[in-house]
Amino acid sequence: MAKLLTLIAQLHEFQPDAPPSPQGLVVRPSKAADLQQLGTLYFEAYEPGIACDSLDEATDDIKASFDGEYGEYWYEASPVVEADGCIVSAVMTVRRAPWDDTPDCPFIIELFTARDHRRRGLARLLIRHCLVIAHRSGETAVALRVAEDNTPARALYQSLGFSDWQSLS
Ligand SMILES: CC(C)(COP(=O)(O)OP(=O)(O)OC[C@H]1O[C@@H](n2cnc3c(N)ncnc32)[C@H](O)[C@@H]1OP(=O)(O)O)[C@@H](O)C(=O)NCCC(=O)NCCS
Repeated sequence: MAKLLTLIAQLHEFQPDAPPSPQGLVVRPSKAADLQQLGTLYFEAYEPGIACDSLDEATDDIKASFDGEYGEYWYEASPVVEADGCIVSAVMTVRRAPWDDTPDCPFIIELFTARDHRRRGLARLLIRHCLVIAHRSGETAVALRVAEDNTPARALYQSLGFSDWQSLS
């Protein structure tokens, strides 16, 4: 299994303007009723064996996230993108992660985009929304974990100003 890196984005000099939504797409906070859609999207987003082995397992994991198993779920800082009424990208954020080896700040526990909507800037848009919400709430940083070999996600986070937390702490 690939090593996990903890990354952090400092919000001290963050420009707190919510980015505009691309035409035809809706960005809105997630809600409990999104469970099935998010479970399906989560299951289909990863290659087999990376995240969940079945749709049921994926949906159960989203439910566990909503229920606070990975920290208090922060719906407002967990926006989704909808296209034609269907969720096509989502970021999932908790107020604080429950693990010892994590920074004391909001924590992104998941991020995924439907395969046929990738490379359109949706994940970047959602992370920026998340950072805006966190900044407006008085938070000074947002953190996350990423597998060392997840090149697309690492490129995205780096472009948004995330850096290695271990080397800062
Ligand atoms: C990682 C993931 C969320 C990116 O979603 P996305 O909506 O396609 O991302 P964006 O279009 O916002 O990409 C923003 C930037 O990320 C980087 N990026 C995204 N996909 C990439 C890829 N396949 N290869 C290299 N860089 C990539 C690029 O820098 C990109 O900017 P650019 O398109 O201007 O070059 C998506 O690939 C995914 O769902 N992967 C499976 C789940 C996952 O790994 N989640 C992350 C867990 S930490």
